Amino acid sequence: MKSRKRLAGFLFACTVALLPATALALSPQTRPVSASLAAHPPGAAIASGHHLATDAGLQVLAEGGNAFDAAVAVSSTLSVVEPISSGLGGGGLFLLHDARSGKDVMLDAREYAPESATPEQFLDKKGELDRDRSMNGPWSAGIPGLPAALVELAGKYGRLPLRQSLAPAIRIAREGFPVYARMAKGYASRREIMDRYPGTREVYLRNGKPIAEGDIFRQPELAHTLELLAAEGFDGFYRGETARKLIKGVNQAGGRWTARELAAYQVKQRTPISLDYRGWKVTTAPPPSSGGIALAEMLQILEPWNLQELDEAHRIHLVTEAMRRAYRDRTFFLGDPDFVEIPQKVLTSRDYAQGLRATIHPDKATPSDLLSGKPTPLEDDETTHFSIIDAEGNRVGGTQTVNLLYGSGLIPPGTGVLLNDEMDDFALKPGTPNAFGVMGYEANAPKPGKRMLSSMTPTFMESPDKVVVLGTPGGSRIITMVLLGVLGYDAGLSAQQVAALPRYHHQWLPDAISAESGAFSPEVAKTLEAMGHEVDLPGDEAAGGRGSSHVWGNLQTVAWDRASDVLSAGSDPRNPVGGAKVVIAADPPKP
Ligand code: DON
Repeated sequence: MKSRKRLAGFLFACTVALLPATALALSPQTRPVSASLAAHPPGAAIASGHHLATDAGLQVLAEGGNAFDAAVAVSSTLSVVEPISSGLGGGGLFLLHDARSGKDVMLDAREYAPESATPEQFLDKKGELDRDRSMNGPWSAGIPGLPAALVELAGKYGRLPLRQSLAPAIRIAREGFPVYARMAKGYASRREIMDRYPGTREVYLRNGKPIAEGDIFRQPELAHTLELLAAEGFDGFYRGETARKLIKGVNQAGGRWTARELAAYQVKQRTPISLDYRGWKVTTAPPPSSGGIALAEMLQILEPWNLQELDEAHRIHLVTEAMRRAYRDRTFFLGDPDFVEIPQKVLTSRDYAQGLRATIHPDKATPSDLLSGKPTPLEDDETTHFSIIDAEGNRVGGTQTVNLLYGSGLIPPGTGVLLNDEMDDFALKPGTPNAFGVMGYEANAPKPGKRMLSSMTPTFMESPDKVVVLGTPGGSRIITMVLLGVLGYDAGLSAQQVAALPRYHHQWLPDAISAESGAFSPEVAKTLEAMGHEVDLPGDEAAGGRGSSHVWGNLQTVAWDRASDVLSAGSDPRNPVGGAKVVIAADPPKP
């Protein structure tokens, strides 16, 4: 902590003095208000990572459900058709807007650490982080939260019975769906781990053959587990038959789960983080996500600058400097708010952002050399996000995950439930980077019942005449992708353009800007390097770069323009099976 203070002082001393007065154009912070605004959307829009999930949501809306019932249908169907990304064995964060009360809430269905998961369990004999334990098999799994979120969404916010909104997922689990390229490729890369567990082999090697693109993938055990959830609600998963099978499967694989900790799972209602950015009200994910606090810091650092008027390299430079500072704070301060005191008020305040802004040199990178950290490769983009707005103006932004590709790889026999490997999101060994190369200390140390820090950042934006829902998977890069999305909407881009935006990222350590293929021209990369940035372009591995994947993320967004009364939806073009659809209501609700 001492060295952190030293660095802050150093930065302040060096950079404030150097700030030239030319600095940067200040921008207006209000948005024009249109004369007539529609009171509610002309229909509904859904964007998700799989077209079958989008269709499931639309079906439930057509049956009389609202956005929350649709969220149950979309979330549960994603759990069936994207086992690579999320599922009943994982968790999620769901940002809700209730049009009638005007209230926003975040359902925190994050997994928590089992009682047995003390830090020592994740160290090898030499005291190093045991990456096999943290990323694969029973010890990597937290107690799942997603099934409880489905029950809560339907029971507290929805209009239809749970069994009706779960019906599409149950049908698709039983009848099957065609395996797509990403799913087959992900399986091939995780097969060695997944083959360890008999319950997983039963599902993925049904005929002794690994799944291949185009196969019809059926999950009858998962259909049965979903049916128990539909019939019995919370108890249908966390107690009784499913719970017994989960515990047996985990413990036979060498883990230690108890019936008590499974039955004790609770979804938490959290107050979202809310801030103003250039006339937008931005509502986003509070802890145990790091997303909202980091997004608030970055946007408030950037707010006075008119980014559109800058040349591209300077725009990227300033955005990167904001990213660097927010991720430094993530490392030290953020964790489960029920276990650690987070200085949220300070971190999200304008004064704090102003102080950080003052340390940014307009043309020079600030070195991130506070702590040494061995760069760790960033993983592929898994997890999944969906965005929904219905004809009444209710909204859901849901990001859900089993963490890395196919989570822990472990399916307890007979359940069809692929368990997460979310324990790796804890700082299992202080100062040692996790799979996403991010580190943490005490605030995010594992403790029984504690929720691991997340980067999932479901977000709403509202201006006087526009309403937006957005989010994406991508591990630690989620927050910066959402930031670029917010900046994109602010610059006037459409939903589809925002989903397609080229991406770049900085997370304090490693001290480099990583970028997608084509995100920067060679000239822009050169200018950034001349400012002192290390630029890590895809394919740079041979040159010692981190070899980031060529494309990242899977951003799903919907937008309603109240002035033109137009609904739109954008699905990330990087994901060919995604689905963004708008349906205009035949019989819109009365204002
Ligand atoms: O909650 C988190 O931040 C992570 N478990 C999300 C993982 C993820 O996005 C995987 N994709 N790269």
